[in-house]
Amino acid sequence: MSKILVTGGLGYIGSHTVVELQDEGYDVVIIDNLSNSSIEVLSRITSITGVKPAFEQIDLKNKEDVKQFFKKYTIDGVIHFAASKAVGESVDEPLKYYENNITTLTYVLKEMTANNVKNFIFSSSCTVYGQADELPITENAPTKPAESPYGATKKMGEIIIEDTTKATDLNAIALRYFNPIGAHETAKIGELPLGVPQNLIPYVVQTAAGIRECLSVFGDDYDTPDGTAIRDYIHVVDLAKAHIVALNRLLKNENKAKCEFFNIGTGTGSSVLDVINAFEKATNKKVNYKTVDRRAGDITSAFADTSLANKELGWKAELSLEVALASSWKWQESL
Ligand code: UFG
Repeated sequence: MSKILVTGGLGYIGSHTVVELQDEGYDVVIIDNLSNSSIEVLSRITSITGVKPAFEQIDLKNKEDVKQFFKKYTIDGVIHFAASKAVGESVDEPLKYYENNITTLTYVLKEMTANNVKNFIFSSSCTVYGQADELPITENAPTKPAESPYGATKKMGEIIIEDTTKATDLNAIALRYFNPIGAHETAKIGELPLGVPQNLIPYVVQTAAGIRECLSVFGDDYDTPDGTAIRDYIHVVDLAKAHIVALNRLLKNENKAKCEFFNIGTGTGSSVLDVINAFEKATNKKVNYKTVDRRAGDITSAFADTSLANKELGWKAELSLEVALASSWKWQESL
């Protein structure tokens, strides 16, 4: 049974991935510093899978702790989620982002190569494409200058990883996520936004729950059919499964390059109004909303061409937008 390190394994996408890994029989050890997660997630995962994953409360900024970790455990592969992820905050606190997302990445990669751990899955983002010139977006689309320090850390992360694969035995896959949404069907794990949500679905859900008065739709003058911006919303459970197939590919030496990149989305673009309508249909709840100005830094439209992931990973998103939104609502109700 392969032992897999999941950094940030108590976070939103990390926790769903741990569940899928355990369901596939992997032996999981989690590193998390609890900076944006709760220790309770560990027992939630355990109650879903029936197996308690090993857990080390480590801050990856502590180089010595990372070193000791790799001495203590014999690891077969690493799925690296641990990072800060708030776009707006990254503009105000760039050094926090470069330290949390880049310095820590170099420590993990350094200890992996020092300890002969060869398989690495990276949490990347479609943000590397910026506003792509052609839609749907393929992996060959050129990367664009980052809109934020957060986005810059994803671009730099990919470069650092690819350079490391060229110089060492490391093999890596960077998964470029589109917009992850939804929660586990058990409603035992989900996204826990701190304070006022910045992302669309948590805001929609909290508005429907009466926690927020009114959703602001950021702009209705985009060059799209209904004027609101378009994204590719992918169920977090589908996304979690993409990590398992990517990991299997590396463990079985089926990768075709030392460092590979895959888009992970549904392939379908939905506007903000599509999301509101789908949410109302899926839950029978009304969402109070008003249109306001565009949000700075937002692009018009992004959705994935997923044919490479379909072909090479044998992976395809299976859960619909309605199913994802219903799961977000169920999660909200459980809170
Ligand atoms: N939106 C609203 N009202 C809100 C929140 C969002 O109308 O209250 C709109 C946005 O303007 C955008 C869409 O809903 O058009 C989606 O916004 P999100 O904030 O949910 O997601 P983004 O696409 O802006 O950001 C996501 C991730 C980032 C990542 C980025 C990459 O959250 O981490 O994709 O493109 F950097």
